[in-house]
Amino acid sequence: MSTTEAESLTSKMIPIFIMGKKYEVPDSLTIMKAMEYAGYKFVRGAGCRGGICGACGTVYRKPGDYRIYVGLACQTMVEPKMYLTQIPFYPANRQNFDWEEIKADGGAVGQLYPELYRCVACNACTKICPMDVEVMDYIAMIKRGDIEEAKRISFDCIQCGLCASRCMGELPQYHIAQLVRRLYGGKMAPDTPHLEQMVEQIAAGYYQDKLEELKQMSEDDLKKLYSDRQQEPHQADEYWKPESNEGL
Ligand code: SF4
Ligand code: SF4
Ligand code: FES
Repeated sequence: MSTTEAESLTSKMIPIFIMGKKYEVPDSLTIMKAMEYAGYKFVRGAGCRGGICGACGTVYRKPGDYRIYVGLACQTMVEPKMYLTQIPFYPANRQNFDWEEIKADGGAVGQLYPELYRCVACNACTKICPMDVEVMDYIAMIKRGDIEEAKRISFDCIQCGLCASRCMGELPQYHIAQLVRRLYGGKMAPDTPHLEQMVEQIAAGYYQDKLEELKQMSEDDLKKLYSDRQQEPHQADEYWKPESNEGL
């Protein structure tokens, strides 16, 4: 019996509307699984299925409620009579730039994205963000020239694009924030000797034997190796290390 069949036996069937069409689906499913249950096949609008890639932005309403709700289809449970559509991609202005030339300051970002100054501080972007990122605040920090703080506030952005869909100033917030994080990482962050050391080790072939060993393994053995790995405990402290560092 497939997982979806088993789920359908233990759950209640509820009606939902996908792009205006009614379907009966088990109430124990996420929107993504419910769409698949209803016969949709994802060739776009699904990636990680784990709330990380930002591909499955979904907008929905509930009956008798004026509010627009959003969620990631892979993380949000279905609700009776919700009516929904996916927004797997939202067109937004994305500027090219010369990495060597660009300066890591708010003025340079504002020159590339002058629409930054069209923000009217309505906060619609923050309200729609499925990751609870304080979008309006990072935009304010960029306008103020505080790249480091904008980087910090926008860190959990998964590039779903929903903020841009709501912006009356027509800002591509997530592209601007990505630029800011790149500027911080590439031009402002302190040196990271451990990273440089690792790059040198890779170039010197330090990991070559281990890679060759992995390449020789069967798919089943690779899966077993992956599932048997020691996982970092939830909320481990910063000094946590695995018992074996073989291959590192
Ligand atoms: S900041 Fe925008 S693009 Fe990033 S996760 Fe939030 S809504 Fe999505
Ligand atoms: S939705 Fe647009 S205009 Fe409103 S606060 Fe966010 S960035 Fe500014
Ligand atoms: S599929 Fe990646 S966030 Fe939903």
